Amino acid sequence: MLLKLFFLISTLTSSFISTTHSSHTKCLQHEKALLLQLKKELIFDSSFSTKLVQWNQTDDCCSWHGVGCDTAGNVVSLQLENEAISDGVGDSSSLLRLKHLQKLNLAYKNFNSPPIPRGIHNLNYLTHLNLSNAGFGGQVPAEITSLRRLISLDISNDY
Ligand SMILES: *[C@@H]1O[C@H](CO)[C@@H](O)[C@H](O)[C@H]1NC(C)=O
Ligand SMILES: *[C@@H]1O[C@H](CO)[C@@H](O)[C@H](O)[C@H]1NC(C)=O
Repeated sequence: MLLKLFFLISTLTSSFISTTHSSHTKCLQHEKALLLQLKKELIFDSSFSTKLVQWNQTDDCCSWHGVGCDTAGNVVSLQLENEAISDGVGDSSSLLRLKHLQKLNLAYKNFNSPPIPRGIHNLNYLTHLNLSNAGFGGQVPAEITSLRRLISLDISNDY
């Protein structure tokens, strides 16, 4: 079955995009704790993972693969495509407590995902959400319409 859904909402363009990485930022401790908690929660295949697998206590989380911060040290971007995550992200996920997140990519090679969590509306600052081929089942929750800053939503599925 070929099911291809693609939405690109391009009403709000300029104002919400900020620098995703600066070598001068140090991540905030509570954001780092959430990322490490997220790593613990997610079920992923460490032999395919190139990002999550390397996250560790040792350094500034703003320099971890797949993580981008703003100048204040808040995590604003998570690019976790192709990380072989199974069982997805639930409503209790630490990911939904990364409140400053603007860009989230869980595209590809992820599978067995439950429906997109309703708690996604906690991520008020999201501008880009990419769940392309992320295996999320079920309906897109209505809560997604409360994400007022969303510019781009990719829920395309090639399978
Ligand atoms: C810890 O993180 C650093 C920097 O990302 C990485 O080079 C190193 O391999 C990681 N260590 C482990 C055990 O994953
Ligand atoms: C979503 O991510 C995939 C994989 O990185 C990429 O190929 C696709 O272009 C992205 N979609 C958008 C709208 O950026």
